[in-house]
Amino acid sequence: MHTFEKLSTLFAERFNQRHFPETPTNLYDAGEYFLNLQAKRIRPVLCLMGNELFGDIRPDVYHVASAIELFHNFTLIHDDIMDKAPLRRGQQTVHERFGSSTALLAGDVMLVAAYDHLNKIDPHFKFAVLDLFNKTAREVCEGQQLDMDFEKQPIVQMDAYIRMITLKTSVLLASSLQLGAILGGAGLGNQEHIYEFGKCLGIAFQVQDDYLDAFGDPTKFGKQVGGDILSDKKTFLLIKALEAAKGKDKEALEKLLKENSPRKVEEMVSIFRSLQVDKWAFGLKKQYMGEALRHLEEIAVLSSRKKPLEELAEFLVQRDY
Ligand code: IPE
Ligand code: IPE
Ligand code: MG
Ligand code: MG
Ligand code: MG
Repeated sequence: MHTFEKLSTLFAERFNQRHFPETPTNLYDAGEYFLNLQAKRIRPVLCLMGNELFGDIRPDVYHVASAIELFHNFTLIHDDIMDKAPLRRGQQTVHERFGSSTALLAGDVMLVAAYDHLNKIDPHFKFAVLDLFNKTAREVCEGQQLDMDFEKQPIVQMDAYIRMITLKTSVLLASSLQLGAILGGAGLGNQEHIYEFGKCLGIAFQVQDDYLDAFGDPTKFGKQVGGDILSDKKTFLLIKALEAAKGKDKEALEKLLKENSPRKVEEMVSIFRSLQVDKWAFGLKKQYMGEALRHLEEIAVLSSRKKPLEELAEFLVQRDY
């Protein structure tokens, strides 16, 4: 069994190369620029781990892992346009640097590059892999639309929020694991448990992402701290704050959401702190982590094989970037 670090290196040895032709340079430089930024590469590693849980790593699983990472990067380039984000991975976003039109195309062609990789796997697995990949891609689009719809809604219920983050974020972590497991020859029952493990983990992962967006250390986080607050994103922090606020806090919160104060981020974070919604994040992460680990336990392989996944899960919900 390989650790997260080792699998990251194995993946990087294959992935860290040029992905696109030289010309038109304005298009392909944008894609190469983005793929060369420092990223965690969690999803491809999850795919390799899902594969290794059931046997030795198959060479064509690297194509699936590459497809997943390319798909993820495509969604980030487009997400940064939708979220008007200036920073990503500690650098300028693609649309800031190359313009929105090129960013859209760079994302589009990255998605095509993902399918080129899927076309290289053993034909025996192609149907199942494409079926799950496409279902997931559709769900991510649905989640992204809900995320934007919620910006305009004054109140969003917690269960709607969980549904939205499941779609925009956690299904991709879940599928990364299951796709690896499919190539590992896992049975349907095991595939289902690994998917559910990833789904619960993904929810905890997005809760941490929302937490860092407000409370992260700008020198480590790599994105604009407070970006969600500026876009009125209905993160669990805001949902919980709206639920918990009374009296002066409630008035201040409602005023901040109505008017665009230049101190919106600081003031909102200070309300979050006074209502202790940050502490509430720990409870929610713990709940979903517990559920994730229960699914991992149900997978019928030796428990020693599950160690790398347990370690990665722990890192994902504690991370500060
Ligand atoms: C960012 O994903 C998008 C979310 C779903 C929160 P990551 O935090 O995995 O970003 P990179 O790929 O490491 O930059
Ligand atoms: C991103 O959610 C989900 C997808 C890219 C599909 P966020 O908008 O919270 O991700 P970050 O914070 O920009 O990485
Ligand atoms: Mg977004
Ligand atoms: Mg975003
Ligand atoms: Mg975010």
